[in-house]
Amino acid sequence: MKFKGQVAVVTGAGRNIGEDVSKLLAENGAAIAVVDIDKARGEKVAADIVASGGQAKWFGCDVSSEEAIISCVAEIKAHFGRIDMLVNNAAISDNKDMFSLTSAEWNRVLAITLTAPFLLTREVAKVMIEGKTGGRIVNVSSTSGYFGRNRATAYTAAKGGLVNLTKSQAIQLADHKIRVNAVVPNKIGSPVGKDEFDPTRPVVNLAGRPGVPRDLANAALFLLSEESSFIIGAALFVDGGCTTMMPGNS
Ligand SMILES: NC(=O)c1ccc[n+]([C@@H]2O[C@H](COP(=O)([O-])OP(=O)(O)OC[C@H]3O[C@@H](n4cnc5c(N)ncnc54)[C@H](O)[C@@H]3O)[C@@H](O)[C@H]2O)c1
Repeated sequence: MKFKGQVAVVTGAGRNIGEDVSKLLAENGAAIAVVDIDKARGEKVAADIVASGGQAKWFGCDVSSEEAIISCVAEIKAHFGRIDMLVNNAAISDNKDMFSLTSAEWNRVLAITLTAPFLLTREVAKVMIEGKTGGRIVNVSSTSGYFGRNRATAYTAAKGGLVNLTKSQAIQLADHKIRVNAVVPNKIGSPVGKDEFDPTRPVVNLAGRPGVPRDLANAALFLLSEESSFIIGAALFVDGGCTTMMPGNS
């Protein structure tokens, strides 16, 4: 039980990657604050964890709101008494090119995908610093943060920003023994914003298979554990090797 007595906050924990990260951390002894805007999904994940003998509670929060984030972190602290780990996982995509994307849509994608990890890290770090417990934080970026795309504009910008935000957070929190790292997934489980896994989704990588949520959860577990204590401000690719290949070159 790696994380016995510890508390993890996972955003977007109601489905797919966030759900599996929550369940793996719970299997390893952590109590989980299941943060999600969707009540039914969030309560189901928390109930699954409790039914398996773990500790979890759903906290309803729209992470696009600073006010909601501040009160959610306060509620989590009041309920569990401490916070040791944070996984900034919630995100939405625009799936649009620059001519069809409105500024309102741009702002919402940025708010959930980039500003929320800034605000949540700030609020959770205050709790960690006050408790003098140190901590570990993982930001979930995307291979979309490293490349341009035709059908995603705000999402690619937000995910690229999150990689560099991770480095600034890592520098600013290192003296408090809070380690911040990023994971960089590609095509894991269902696409962002969708419930269903699409077996026809094209996947080109060195693994020869699409990723499953457990691939990402295992990487997050490593970055949240003592085994990665010398890894700070890094971006760990969990992409089946797809970014290793230059298109058109064999
Ligand atoms: N699925 C992939 O193939 C893939 C690839 C690369 C990166 N990622 C990244 O991994 C992370 C998880 O992706 P996923 O596919 O599991 O996402 P998902 O869309 O399946 O789940 C996201 C969860 O976040 C919640 N959420 C959405 N908006 C919210 C808000 N405003 N406040 C609180 N909760 C909110 C949703 O209710 C949902 O439960 C994201 O950061 C995503 O960008 C995913």
